[in-house]
Amino acid sequence: MPLPDNKQVVKLSEELVSTIRDTFKTPDNYRPVHAKGQLVKGSFTPSKDASKISKAEIFSKPSTPLILRYSTSPGIKNFPDNGEDGSRGFALRFVLSEDGHRHFDIITNNGFGFITGTGEGFLEQFQAIKTNTFDKYLEKYPHAKHFTENHSPSHAISFATEIWHSVNAFKFVNAEGAERFFRWRIVPWQGVMKYSTADAQKQSKHFHFDDLQWRLTHNRPIKYRLLAQLAEEGDPTNDSTKTWPETNEFVEMGEIVVDQLWNMDDGNPAGEAQKRIIYDPVPRQIEGIEASDDPLIEVRAAAYLISGKIRRDHGDEIVEQATDLKE
Ligand code: HEM
Repeated sequence: MPLPDNKQVVKLSEELVSTIRDTFKTPDNYRPVHAKGQLVKGSFTPSKDASKISKAEIFSKPSTPLILRYSTSPGIKNFPDNGEDGSRGFALRFVLSEDGHRHFDIITNNGFGFITGTGEGFLEQFQAIKTNTFDKYLEKYPHAKHFTENHSPSHAISFATEIWHSVNAFKFVNAEGAERFFRWRIVPWQGVMKYSTADAQKQSKHFHFDDLQWRLTHNRPIKYRLLAQLAEEGDPTNDSTKTWPETNEFVEMGEIVVDQLWNMDDGNPAGEAQKRIIYDPVPRQIEGIEASDDPLIEVRAAAYLISGKIRRDHGDEIVEQATDLKE
């Protein structure tokens, strides 16, 4: 996972990571956002027609192992699941080689669209939070105000009933060279089920992770459909603030099954593995899936790498899995 050649992007990404870290006062061995999380394992099985739209190997192999991480969005390791903030993350790694070094990642959250379309806008948001001027930021950016007021995600009953979005657009290329822009959508087999904020507040502090642990230790695998929302003529691929019409075609790409908590047999204590893994927003090690011209993708990739290196290099302590949190 190299840093981009563009020095401006690297500088912006460094500033993003340090500003976000300062905002949440996150310890160096934790992620500056999505600090509370849990590594789990599973597998992906492609749909019968997925390989027609993309030549990516995950659509022609019968099955691909997955390493996944569920998370709560802020950079606070014991942030409550039952508070006002219902935003959650779900990152998926498709393991493409025996040693795990070659992989393809999809990183999603449960929001619909995004607060800003650029890395600069994201930085300004955190600078505003840090200096208590978030109201002014919202006045300056009508989309951010609209997004905050209308699209802050509500609490799912369980990770198993949550819907996930890649936000950024990507491009499929098939064996004939035909290209098609799309966004990932991950839909739970159990259906999307949400709490009202009032009902979410009646749950236990780590209820999403308690539920996850219970399901995966009681033989209740969690299943999702992996869908691709195809772009139609004129749908912007370079602006994550602009969602595409829900009437666009959704293509069934396969099934995701989450069936195990990370365990010691996997070679690393879970907390150490969680500290080391860095999900990559750019599909750089697979053919048939490419990044679009969305400027967020490159800046995210640089920021995740910079952030991940800080995590790996600092703090001898491993990070806690969310299910191990005591307070
Ligand atoms: C400019 C925009 C963004 C910036 C600067 C940013 C920054 C970051 C950083 C620094 C991390 C920690 C990475 C690590 O230490 O491994 C992170 C994690 C994460 N971000 Fe973003 N992010 C952005 C946009 C997004 C978007 C659009 C999504 C949703 C699709 C998203 C979802 C996530 C998730 C799920 C994680 C946790 C990944 C894991 O479990 O390791 N982020 N982000």
